[in-house]
Amino acid sequence: MAAPVVDAAYLREIDKVRRELRALIASKNCAPIMLRLAWHDAGTYDVNTKTGGPNGSIRHEEEYKHGANAGLKIAIDLCETVKVKHPRITYADLYQLAGVVAVEVTGGPTIDFVPGRRDSSVSPREGRLPDAKQGAAHLRDIFYRMGLSDKDIVALSGGHTLGRAHPERSGFDGPWTREPLKFDNSYFVELIQADNEGLLKLPTDKALMEDSEFARYVKLYAKDEDAFFKDYAESHKKLSELGFTPR
Ligand code: HEM
Repeated sequence: MAAPVVDAAYLREIDKVRRELRALIASKNCAPIMLRLAWHDAGTYDVNTKTGGPNGSIRHEEEYKHGANAGLKIAIDLCETVKVKHPRITYADLYQLAGVVAVEVTGGPTIDFVPGRRDSSVSPREGRLPDAKQGAAHLRDIFYRMGLSDKDIVALSGGHTLGRAHPERSGFDGPWTREPLKFDNSYFVELIQADNEGLLKLPTDKALMEDSEFARYVKLYAKDEDAFFKDYAESHKKLSELGFTPR
């Protein structure tokens, strides 16, 4: 599909959409699932074939029915209530803006948002998102395919400061932190602790502590929230712009 024309009117709509997303996310307490939607739309990117990425394709049943996307129809439907009022805004921009706003309203860093993503109706084949049962080598396979780095892997994993796993969606259960509606560095603080009763650590979360290159960043982010926020904002912007060249 053609790229949207980002003129003054489009930018004004983006501003309105941003406000509506703030209100929606606050009233529904749905920041975690909105962030997950943005990540799963973007995280299918393949830097070699230039396919997938933040292009709104997750709105199609073919893609949201992928096992990794279980539960995300809830976020797609919430975003649709905003889309009907602002039809010019692409789904691709809407989902990425929802992710940026989710981080912002829960106390996280401000992430620079540049609009203009085009929508795609082509869904990637299933299996491009990470499998939580695997380890460091798998994380590198998946994130390097997106064109992202070790630092991006660790910083972005800090997104698990928000939300929880649901047995009926992923088979895992529980939150990573004690305040899953607050965006802070507690994911890393908990990760470096051996004993944190009642909190979740996926195999891929543990892998960040077991790999020395990853662990460097985990330890840094656990003790220095400013460093985490700075790196997270940069990595999130990269994720939200995979395959997208702002004009
Ligand atoms: C939830 C896996 C990276 C944000 C989950 C869940 C799994 C998972 C299994 C539970 C889903 C459910 O049962 O509802 C992974 C793996 C990753 C990864 C293997 C590889 C590193 C990320 C990234 C972000 C992110 C990069 C965002 C920057 C979230 C959020 C939730 C979540 C916010 C909570 C959703 C909710 O509360 O409904 N993830 N994830 N994840 N993930 Fe990840």
